[in-house]
Order: sequence, then C-alpha cells, then structure tokens
Amino acid sequence: MIKKCLFPAAGYGTRFLPATKATPKEMLPVLTKPLIQYGVEEAVDAGLTTMAIITGRGKRAIEDHFDISYELEHQIKGTSKEPLLTEIRSLITQCTFSYTRQVEMKGLGHAILTGETLIGNEPFAVILADDLCNNNGNDTVLSQMVKVFEKYQCSIVAIEEVPQKDTHKYGIIAGNLVDNTTDTYRVTDMIEKPDPKDAPTNMAIIGRYILTPDIFEILEKTKPGKGGEIQITDALLEQAKQGNVIAYKFKGKRFDCGSVEGFVEATNYFYNKMKD
Ligand code: G1P
Repeated sequence: MIKKCLFPAAGYGTRFLPATKATPKEMLPVLTKPLIQYGVEEAVDAGLTTMAIITGRGKRAIEDHFDISYELEHQIKGTSKEPLLTEIRSLITQCTFSYTRQVEMKGLGHAILTGETLIGNEPFAVILADDLCNNNGNDTVLSQMVKVFEKYQCSIVAIEEVPQKDTHKYGIIAGNLVDNTTDTYRVTDMIEKPDPKDAPTNMAIIGRYILTPDIFEILEKTKPGKGGEIQITDALLEQAKQGNVIAYKFKGKRFDCGSVEGFVEATNYFYNKMKD
C-alpha cells in the first residue's frame, strides 16, 4: 500500500515573476484553489494521506494553507462564505502534512532525496504540482498509477506523447510495450531533456511518479546531469537497467501550469467545467 506523497515545492517559479516574488508558485490559484491543493486532492483520491512537502525559503504560505486559520473560521462562521472552506477543511482532517526544507536548489533528484527523512523505507508517490491533471471525475492519474504499481511492484512514471520539437522540456523514455490494453511500457532508456534530434521517442514523463525506496540510495550516488542538477531521470535509469521502471500512458488531461500558456489553458478548462 502506498500511503505517502512527496511534493517538491522549493523551486523559485521564475517564469511567473513578479507574481512569485513573495508567493510560492504552488500557491498560484487556478480559479479559487492553489495548484498544490489540486495535487493533494489527487493524492487523497488515490488513497494517500501522508503528505511530505519539500519547501524552501519563502514558502511558509503552503504550511499556513494546510492549517486551520482560527480567526478566519471565526469571521465566516454561519455566513454564506463558510462552505468555501469545506474542501480544504476536509483535507486537513484526512491528511497529515510534514515539511522539510531543501536548503540548496540542486535539482528535482536532490529535492526528492531531501524527502528521504519524511518517507523512510517504503514506496511513495511524487506529484509535481505545476503539472495539473484532470480526468473528468474518472480515476485520477495517480489512482491509475497506483493500480499499475500494484501489478508491477516497481517504479512507475506517467507519460504522454509530446510534439518531437518539445522533447527538450521533458524526461524522455524508450521502452517495450508490455500491455497494450493499458498502454504500459517496460522502460529501457531515459534521457533528461534531450534535443529533438537525440530523443529516442516523443514519450515524455509528466510530473507523477511512484518510486521504490531504493531510489534514495541511487540518488545519493547520482552525479549532476542536465543543467548541472541531480536529475531523478538519471537515477530512474539505474532502476530501468534492472528492468524496474514501468512507464504508463495515463488517461486524462495534463496542463503545464509551470508555463503561462498552460496556466491560462487550465484556468479556461476548469472555468468551463465549473459553468457546466
Ligand atoms: C521535471 C523532470 C522532467 C519531467 C518534468 C515533468 O522537469 O526533470 O524529467 O519531464 O519535470 O513536468 P522540470 O519541469 O521540473 O524542469
């Protein structure tokens, strides 16, 4: 059973400056909910209730968001505004939230390694909150992945096909189809952000992972890769060489809310859904 979900949330969010100067990018709202709340809801939906959040300087708003604000509760009690807090209250009662700080920004792999102290020796999920996923009320992407994990009992990455020209924005996998009814591949190679001409496929990893805990030992030994950062893609390649990584083409939509275009697209999508 997977119980814990790690949220790397220490990044600066420079693409959203000046909005992210004093506000964590994970707190930017799509409609009225911050990105990270969508992520936590997805984790809960998949049956995970222990949230491990990797923060950094200037990220205190995340902790406050997943806590009770007595003054606010008191102010709106009995008013028409009270229901607006129902969803976040329910998360706070269902989940525990632990935090640790990533003191230096040395890449996603380093952020995940920082979380070892919160995760321990068990398989866990990773959600990158700026990849916002939605499957129209059906199984969420992480729920789908938990099912794949139950079958294969190894690390799982969620993938989608991207235009070849965009391979330099993602971790790219190559693999052998193991089940064409569920679109799952046994990964044979993975490369972080290759040039389109060097990319073995156009199958891109999105911000959802299930990792087995041996990843920590591998990350400790992983040398800086693309961009001089410790890359989770490089550590996963070590597991893949042992046949221990499955890539799963998820059902649903993903919005890259790390880019302004993706953020606007997500906002329009959720707004139209809300109106229906
Ligand atoms: C990270 C990973 C990359 C993955 C992407 C998904 O990159 O390093 O392999 O494809 O997340 O969003 P980032 O977007 O943080 O640069």
